[in-house]
Amino acid sequence: MTTLDHAATPTAVARSLLGLNTAYFQAKALQSAVELGLFGLLAERPADAGELCERLGLHPGRAADFLDALVGLGLLERTDGRYANRPGIAEFLVPGGPRYLGDSIAQHARLHYRAWGSLTQVLTGASVADQMDFREDFQSRDNVRHLMGHMDVFNGFVAHALDGCVDWSRYATFLDVGGARGNVAAHLVRTHDHLRGGVFDLPAVRPFFDEHMAALGTAHRVRFTAGDFFADPLPRADVVILGHVLHDWPPSARERLVERVHDAVEPGGAVIVYDAMLDDERDDARSLLQSLNCSIMRDGGSEYTVGECRGYVERAGFRFLSAERVETLTADRVLIATKPS
Ligand SMILES: C[S@@+](CC[C@H](N)C(=O)[O-])C[C@H]1O[C@@H](n2cnc3c(N)ncnc32)[C@H](O)[C@@H]1O
Repeated sequence: MTTLDHAATPTAVARSLLGLNTAYFQAKALQSAVELGLFGLLAERPADAGELCERLGLHPGRAADFLDALVGLGLLERTDGRYANRPGIAEFLVPGGPRYLGDSIAQHARLHYRAWGSLTQVLTGASVADQMDFREDFQSRDNVRHLMGHMDVFNGFVAHALDGCVDWSRYATFLDVGGARGNVAAHLVRTHDHLRGGVFDLPAVRPFFDEHMAALGTAHRVRFTAGDFFADPLPRADVVILGHVLHDWPPSARERLVERVHDAVEPGGAVIVYDAMLDDERDDARSLLQSLNCSIMRDGGSEYTVGECRGYVERAGFRFLSAERVETLTADRVLIATKPS
């Protein structure tokens, strides 16, 4: 992230400001390369500009600047006029691997970039057209698949962090509320043989859950329950996970959901909340922009501080245990609270 060095020369400060102004050039170049399928194509074999123009339908007059800019950004390399993926990026940008980021990048190209284009209007009072209206987005299977892949990019890193956050040997069951296609749940049951898991999500997610569990071989260990987490009964479990869910809703809805989760947790059990929670000092630009992203994608959405989250769980009847920052893509915090026996 660009931050200004105020002690630099006036020219350097001006250059930094203009760099900030045009930071989206880089984002769009990456997004277009993903949308066009460039990295997947180059994973087959290196190619020159002519072949890439033909196979990707690129405008020959613009292709050279586009491709060479990607070289300059460290995404491609060029040898004797032939382009190849830069070593080290393929696992993130070539479709098919477990660390593929392309679904998230495509989601940003399709939705987030458009939403950020209306930032001034939204900041000055225009209502947010819910870009992340889950029910509406679920009208298209392709959109849902992208959305699920986008979520898994982030929750895959959290899943590893959850391994050591609680002593899983003390618990037999868990429920991932808003657990999407079960990526975190699958990781937990694969890591902890004794655990049985559940995912609660909207009915439209079930086919994607079934597909994902079949692919990961965890269909017999994780059960899907379809419903609306504000209205339908949540299955009981020793541990309930609420991950990247509360930041989609306004505080009153978060409180309601945490109360419902409290009812679902068995006495002696725990709730795990993870989100890119804000520092109480509110001085980390990356998290604050992430929070702004939530609020322009979803009416009432935003990140929240650890203190606020502690308030939600304690008012619902949980006992606060810990809140730790974990090494994930959005520097999430994992908050754990227990339900007295
Ligand atoms: C931002 S995603 C988080 C997914 C996952 N927990 C993660 O960490 O990536 C929010 C999830 O909540 C689900 N969801 C949204 N509204 C819901 C509702 N009213 N009832 C049940 N699930 C809902 C969405 O379908 C989606 O899977």
